[in-house]
Amino acid sequence: MLSPKARRIRQMFSSIAPRYDLLNHLLSLNIDKWWRRKAVSLMRVTSCERPSVWLDLCSGTGDLSLEMIRQGAQRVVSSDFSHPMLRLNLAKLRQSQAIPKVILVEADALALPFATNTFDAVGIAFGLRNLDSMEGGLAEMRRVLKPGGRLVVLEFSKPTNAAFDRLFQKYFFAVLPRVGAALSRHSHAYTYLPESVSQFPDQAALRRILETCGFDRTGVVNLTGGIAAIHWGEKR
Ligand SMILES: C[S@@+](CC[C@H](N)C(=O)[O-])C[C@H]1O[C@@H](n2cnc3c(N)ncnc32)[C@H](O)[C@@H]1O
Repeated sequence: MLSPKARRIRQMFSSIAPRYDLLNHLLSLNIDKWWRRKAVSLMRVTSCERPSVWLDLCSGTGDLSLEMIRQGAQRVVSSDFSHPMLRLNLAKLRQSQAIPKVILVEADALALPFATNTFDAVGIAFGLRNLDSMEGGLAEMRRVLKPGGRLVVLEFSKPTNAAFDRLFQKYFFAVLPRVGAALSRHSHAYTYLPESVSQFPDQAALRRILETCGFDRTGVVNLTGGIAAIHWGEKR
């Protein structure tokens, strides 16, 4: 059963789905593509060398799933709770001929319909911040990972240089919501974005949360001065 907040989040993402990719690439000047490539390259550094099954959680329109296939995943489960997002995801998979390798699953990240110890690697890009319970989501991700498997989290984070941070916050809180509202025709999705990022843990705090949730060998790397960061951790 989804909470009222999760239902609102699902409704918001479902209504911006048709413009989601355009806005992502425009508002990030295409840098988001490089961030996903880097995140997937860190999923490949896993102790599981055998034929692999990877999970793209909160997959949206599927850009991370496609990158997983490009970088050699043999089977990808691409899961999200927004039906319109998954429909766009499916259309992209068809275009790119990746369809035989990807399974789409409509599910809540807090109650995954997968058996314990299923996946060699789990990736989540810009999804963790939206979950009703971050710890509940991380516990599910850990549960479905095989022992030795790796979780990789790509999320917005905290710029490390104070002057750059001030400049970026101006863009994030003043420019992005206006452009986002005009192009997505959604009044608050792109106000929600900077607000949710400002409430999200910074690099060190998220790493501690991963450890508290039972992940070992954790690490973090900043992207574009800390605008985003990639965290990882393994299930022992
Ligand atoms: C910002 S988008 C990220 C999409 C994609 N991963 C990317 O890199 O562009 C967040 C996605 O998380 C999904 N989402 C949010 N909460 C969820 C939940 N509880 N269970 C499953 N999906 C969820 C939304 O439907 C949306 O597609």
